[in-house]
Amino acid sequence: MMKMMKMVIVSLLIGIVLGSCTNTSQKTTDPIEEKVQTLIGQMTFEEKLGQLVQTNYHGEPEDWKEQLAEGKIGSFLNLSSVEYANEVQRIVVEESRLGIPLLVGRDVIHGFNTVFPIPLGMASSWSPELAEGAMKIAAREASANGINWTFAPMIDVSWDPRWGRIAETCGEDPYLTSVLGAAMVKGYQGTDPSEEGRIAACAKHFVGYGMSEAGRDYNTTYIPEALLRNVHLRPFKAAADAGCLTFMSAFNDLNGVPTSGNYFTLRTILRDEWKYDGMVVSDWASIQQQIVHGYTETETDAAEKSIKAGVDMEMASRCYDNLPALLEAGKIDVALINESVANILRIKFKLGLFNNPYTDVTLKDKVILTDENLDYARKVARGSMVLLKNEKQTLPLNKTSKVALIGPMTNAPHDQMGTWVFDGDEKNSITPLTSFTDVLGKNLNYAIGLEYSRDKSKAGFAKAIAAAKKSDVIVLLVGEESGLSGEANSRAIIDLPGIQSELLRELNQLNKPLVLVVMAGRPLGIGADIELADAVLYAWHPGTMAGPALTDLIFGDYSPSGKLPITFVKGAGQIPFYYYRKNTGKPTDPERMTYIDDIPRNSKQLSLGFTSMHIDYGITPLYPFGYGMTYTTFEYGDVKLSSKELTKNGELKATCTLTNTGNTKAEEIVQLYVRDLFGSLTRPIKELKGFQKVELAPGESKELTFTITAKDLEFYNGEEYLTEAGDFNLWIAKDSDSGEFVSFAFVNE
Ligand code: NOJ
Repeated sequence: MMKMMKMVIVSLLIGIVLGSCTNTSQKTTDPIEEKVQTLIGQMTFEEKLGQLVQTNYHGEPEDWKEQLAEGKIGSFLNLSSVEYANEVQRIVVEESRLGIPLLVGRDVIHGFNTVFPIPLGMASSWSPELAEGAMKIAAREASANGINWTFAPMIDVSWDPRWGRIAETCGEDPYLTSVLGAAMVKGYQGTDPSEEGRIAACAKHFVGYGMSEAGRDYNTTYIPEALLRNVHLRPFKAAADAGCLTFMSAFNDLNGVPTSGNYFTLRTILRDEWKYDGMVVSDWASIQQQIVHGYTETETDAAEKSIKAGVDMEMASRCYDNLPALLEAGKIDVALINESVANILRIKFKLGLFNNPYTDVTLKDKVILTDENLDYARKVARGSMVLLKNEKQTLPLNKTSKVALIGPMTNAPHDQMGTWVFDGDEKNSITPLTSFTDVLGKNLNYAIGLEYSRDKSKAGFAKAIAAAKKSDVIVLLVGEESGLSGEANSRAIIDLPGIQSELLRELNQLNKPLVLVVMAGRPLGIGADIELADAVLYAWHPGTMAGPALTDLIFGDYSPSGKLPITFVKGAGQIPFYYYRKNTGKPTDPERMTYIDDIPRNSKQLSLGFTSMHIDYGITPLYPFGYGMTYTTFEYGDVKLSSKELTKNGELKATCTLTNTGNTKAEEIVQLYVRDLFGSLTRPIKELKGFQKVELAPGESKELTFTITAKDLEFYNGEEYLTEAGDFNLWIAKDSDSGEFVSFAFVNE
């Protein structure tokens, strides 16, 4: 504690000195920078190297005492006990020479004790407010457990539902991901990350990891620079602009250079172009894996590549132990080490750790799993579910109906939480079975049918059919167990696992209204399954409050409001399929698709019109990006533009009146798309440029206005970022595949 007092006094003195300098020539000096440089000036080379080390925590604080007291560790990951966190902080603060506190990092991805929907689910809410609010709660719960840094948000853009980590993304679109990622950063960090309850965020994985070939995790990526800049880098720029304190370099080899030693992305773009002054941590052993990639021969070479590229902290592996040898050999300069140390210390100061490295151990009982947190999780889960189909207004159900509740996801407290749940306890999960029982009481006929998603035994089918027979309506909950998505859990077949489709087929034979609810970590290829249901609600993995959120929607207390943040393909063979694809030189008119069975036998070079399509799947997805229904109907009025021309410094306003033409109050996510008709590089057929979420009562109308500037239309053409003069189409629509366009021109003057 003495050491801690000393640090506080030193900080205060520095503060006073700097305060008195405010009106002098040092006016622009940043007080944190002063502290960082002063501290670096006091550090030995070994102490500097210690700051670059992030070690996986295990055992007791005592096991680490020597290394901590010698200043050999800058950060722990996977430490999640407030008592241990306080003790390791005490050791560094009181027993090490300079008392530099530790960064305690953990994967707090979609909640801590209170588990929110998986990020892909959260993204379906298209709500930066909900995303920010959820992460604020996650940060508060985590920080009460001694954690001061999360490895989130994950803002990789991906087009590939085979990739298990699609669950962690905000989907396929760079704009939506940018908006939501920035909101999550704000949720974790607030405006002042040193406030109680805030933690540092980490934008990951820099960069291009979402393009892992064939959706196979950790696989190679090839991304041309224009695609990298127009799609994959955009969310990271937004996170940097939102003040995200840290970035994580990725696992993937990008165009032949592993991303954790990639000078171009980490140094040229992140540091030189963007002037990012946060800290970069490697992903787990990704510095060392440069050897496995076949990029560097030794750990020394790996360390050289990464430190030069600007990876400040090494997670898990110890290649940076070779930095002294590199220094001695004249391959690196001590200034490079100082820069990384400065980047790390800056975060520690910004988090206020020097002033208060400890956590009040009584806090966690006050802030975790509170009613407020759980209510919020219910609200976010409700907002994340997407109604895909609702024939004959099957939904909402009447609370007095006799309902058969069936399926492996009905009572799966662990699986409903989804991937990346280290601290959520299934004991706190409220399952659909509990919530349906609460609503229906004796009118509920329950039979699980299949024990878990991959269960291949038909032993439970008879009971499920019997339950269905005595009910007015069937609600079947299928999906994927949480362990089938997430890191390393990529699938080549993206159908419903096991024999769930068979159970669905048998229930469909009963000719009763059938509601299919899917809880999964990826957009599954459920085209054939959907045909067998009257209504389909896609719930992703909704988290702790899956049950109440589901019954809120199923029984009509709320209307579904989620929309898809990713295209649903008909089957894996259609991948990649994303809405901002290029037109090609031979596009297919979706109205005039011809299929495999239309090809005459012994046909010569017939080729059905020579257009770009699959002869089995055609050219339309199962559901387009942005798609989602609700219990009411919305009518979109004609789009009006304030002008037919947008100038370089001007603004264009696009307006449209939205009317709730149904009988239910509901929210609608209104989307703005643009197409740049001609470019010096070919342009996508549509790009999302804005969205608004509006709630309207039956009969209510609202005029919605979107503002477009030249900056919104900018793209990278291989040489520079620019907005090119020419014609554009614009849509205000309910999804990426709807609406009529209006046109305008951008004039570069
Ligand atoms: C590897 C994962 O790729 C990354 O997302 C995660 O944050 C780290 N491991 C730490 O657990």
